[in-house]
Amino acid sequence: MYLRELTLLHFKNYAEAGVTFSPRINCFTGANGMGKTNLLDAIHYLSLCKSFFGSIDSQNISFEQPFFMIQGKFEKEGREEEVLVSVKRAQKKIVSRNKNEYEKLSDHIGLFPLVMISPLDSVLISGGSDQRRRFTDGILSQFDKQYLEKLINYNNVLQERNALLKQFAVNRSFDGALLEVFDEQLADLGNYIHDARLKFLADFVPVFERFYRLLSDNAEAVKLDYVSTLKGKEYTEALKVSIHKDCTLQHTSVGIHRDDLTFLLQGNEVKKYASQGQQKTYLLALKLAQYEYIKNKTGIKPLLLLDDVYDKLDNKRFTKLVELVSSDDFGQVFISDTSAERILQLFTSNRGCFIFEIRKDGIKQLKGK
Ligand SMILES: Nc1ncnc2c1ncn2[C@@H]1O[C@H](COP(=O)(O)OP(=O)(O)O)[C@@H](O)[C@H]1O
Ligand SMILES: [Mg+2]
Repeated sequence: MYLRELTLLHFKNYAEAGVTFSPRINCFTGANGMGKTNLLDAIHYLSLCKSFFGSIDSQNISFEQPFFMIQGKFEKEGREEEVLVSVKRAQKKIVSRNKNEYEKLSDHIGLFPLVMISPLDSVLISGGSDQRRRFTDGILSQFDKQYLEKLINYNNVLQERNALLKQFAVNRSFDGALLEVFDEQLADLGNYIHDARLKFLADFVPVFERFYRLLSDNAEAVKLDYVSTLKGKEYTEALKVSIHKDCTLQHTSVGIHRDDLTFLLQGNEVKKYASQGQQKTYLLALKLAQYEYIKNKTGIKPLLLLDDVYDKLDNKRFTKLVELVSSDDFGQVFISDTSAERILQLFTSNRGCFIFEIRKDGIKQLKGK
């Protein structure tokens, strides 16, 4: 599967643009603010029906225009597939495939899988545990609708239990029987989620470690651990044990909503001790492992978008990354970089590679037919 053609109308800084891509490597070069990331984001829209940056759709309409449109022509299993995303101000977003409009956007997710690697990934290391849960949950729920459903239900029950704990505090009351009803629901849903996360990580971690070794040339040992407040405890029992604490805190202190991942490098916490380049390598390995997981689940090589990856990496690691994504384990790849020289030098001998320069007056092709 690959994206052959992309057409934009009034999307962010693009009034109008049309590009034909290589099925393998595509590089976007150009100065800051020219629209390299915007181009990647347009591709993200075609796959996931939304911006990578979580912005509201209308923000992506060019200033002072009434709508934007992104059209993509994919080649998938020997057939052309056309995906169209259009957003008009103050109207519902329309996504269609082969001219059929989706009623539920979730039906589109997974048909044209994509992984975007961006400087924003750093929140996985610097951010709170919610960021790391979102990472895991995002991958799992794409392929396991039951997981997503149970997660939503879990959060609803959790909110109700927390509201009850608040009520106890306000009224200076306690109703153990009522609490038990919530505990049983939480345990039922939470056990499913807990097991699914454990199973996912058992597959995911070895792949992550392999990518880290490849990128760093075996320079450092990394470890990724799943941390849970439930470790070794039966779910309802764990809730019972912490009931006094929960009443004081007025929220639920144990459960899968507190799960976290610890990132270690040479036995030390990545956030505190790893260099910027090591952190970047860690993030790259995480995202490449995500790529591999999706590839195995769907049987399709996802599109891989690499935004400003050169930033903070040394030459050796950047070259490793380029070698890696140029191998047959990967499919279509999009790379943005401010330096045309660096890109031209790296890819001159790569026959399947197209290089584009994004300029004020349009997109100019520097290499490729
Ligand atoms: N809705 C919009 N309408 C017009 N221009 C926009 C819009 N949103 C962002 N831009 C412009 O896009 C440019 C940034 O593009 P970006 O793709 O991030 O650049 P880079 O090439 O550095 O990755 C900025 O100049 C910004 O003003
Ligand atoms: Mg950019």
